[in-house]
Amino acid sequence: MKQIISVIQQKGGVGKTTLAVHLAHEFRLQNPGMRVVVADADPQQSAYKWVTRGNANGSNGVTAVLVAADGDGKTLRQELEAIQADLVILDLPPAIESVSLRAALYADVILVPVGASALDIEAGQAAISVCRDATTMDKTKTYLIVPSKIRQSTAAGRELSTVLSSWGPIAKTSIGLRVALADAATGGHGICDFAPNSPAHQEITALAAEVAELLRRKANGSAQTAIAS
Ligand SMILES: Nc1ncnc2c1ncn2[C@@H]1O[C@H](COP(=O)(O)OP(=O)(O)OP(=O)(O)O)[C@@H](O)[C@H]1O
Ligand SMILES: [Mg+2]
Repeated sequence: MKQIISVIQQKGGVGKTTLAVHLAHEFRLQNPGMRVVVADADPQQSAYKWVTRGNANGSNGVTAVLVAADGDGKTLRQELEAIQADLVILDLPPAIESVSLRAALYADVILVPVGASALDIEAGQAAISVCRDATTMDKTKTYLIVPSKIRQSTAAGRELSTVLSSWGPIAKTSIGLRVALADAATGGHGICDFAPNSPAHQEITALAAEVAELLRRKANGSAQTAIAS
């Protein structure tokens, strides 16, 4: 059964695309033969270009498609259904507009990257309210807040999980501000190929394991029950 992870966040530049592409490569690495597709609903096409650049450089088999070309996501469901994949990671534009709302509704797991600054935190709340609506409508799906671009050397970075604790489930893994995660995009790589076993790769591996567990729970129809226990 095909599963969908949507990465949503109103705030621009918080790391949605970076997270989507590195997770896609990590899932493919961990599950040889799994058809992992990055679906890019952002008119900037950053994820699509990243992945297709990697395909030209012989990367590990993740592919990419463009979706929601109409910009409001009206056909998003049909486009997602048409993708031949075991796992689709859907990268969204920096806005909580129609396409993001639909992406949340159609996802098995919604990821919400949030940065540590006050502006990031203010802007992040809109995405959480979308997630709450989507998970209220379908109690088997879940969302996960992912601390993103975190500097552990700052108090704001270290304390983000506590600050966000009322927002819902927060990933145990924070994604640090790590140059390798950005540099990997140049050649179209995932961090698993670009800097294997680096601290950046270890974070992506740990986050992928958390997300994989949520996907398993969703497949079993028990996401929120399991999280609550
Ligand atoms: N964890 C990270 N460490 C270092 N740099 C990062 C990290 N995540 C993202 N970046 C960098 O921050 C910038 C924005 O990242 P990205 O494009 O992934 O964000 P986004 O949320 O998808 O942005 P947009 O809202 O414009 O789509 C890029 O230059 C990217 O390389
Ligand atoms: Mg992006």
